[in-house]
Amino acid sequence: MSHQTDKDVAPRPGALAPELARALRSKFIVFDGPDGSGKSTQLRRFLEAARAAGLDPCEVREPGGTQIGEKIRAALLDHLEEDMTLRCEMLLYMASRAQLVEQTIRPALAAGRLVVADRFVSSTLAYQGAAGGLPEREIRAAANIACGHTTPDLVVIFDVDEDTAATRLNPLLDRMESKGREYHKRVRQGYLSQIESDQKHHLRVDASKGEDQVFEQLVTGLRQRLT
Ligand code: TMP
Repeated sequence: MSHQTDKDVAPRPGALAPELARALRSKFIVFDGPDGSGKSTQLRRFLEAARAAGLDPCEVREPGGTQIGEKIRAALLDHLEEDMTLRCEMLLYMASRAQLVEQTIRPALAAGRLVVADRFVSSTLAYQGAAGGLPEREIRAAANIACGHTTPDLVVIFDVDEDTAATRLNPLLDRMESKGREYHKRVRQGYLSQIESDQKHHLRVDASKGEDQVFEQLVTGLRQRLT
């Protein structure tokens, strides 16, 4: 009769190693990327793995995440607001973010929790900046007012080309998603240049691959960066 040892037991697929789970306490991690990158699916999976590893993660989404933030989200994504100016749009994202940072993110970090955000300032830099044309310094100045010193420990960018992304999008597109191929190409470039200019705080994951492979890259990348 054979006896199984710990070594023989294959690690549960998708499980977080104990040292990574420890390193994630009080960390602020952002999941970001173009529409259709699959970041939200990966985020759900990551949160499940974090809970299974004994963490109590705080999940936030942008725009939204608070009562007033959800109202701002509705205004931003509504087709009826087509004549909204770019600066108004950028400041609404920042207003929603200011509320989220003060009401939810800071208290969670102070309590030692892992905070995982679905989008953050990196989205505004990519969408309203690189794709929309607003100067980066204006966005950074507004972000400074909205977030102060609360900046992510790591921004994970789920990178995907615009053609692959388009095949994954819901046919009922919202106002942001329906802006067209050229716009989304600039969005992607915006993310890539953020990675390029600050490699320490960004992790690129190739999101054109299948769900399991993407998750594996994510966990490996986090382990390399944080442990
Ligand atoms: P999501 O629900 O898929 O994250 O979509 C939110 C949309 O809002 C998405 O098209 C990206 C856009 N967005 C911006 O343009 N700027 C921002 O700062 C944020 C947070 C989102």
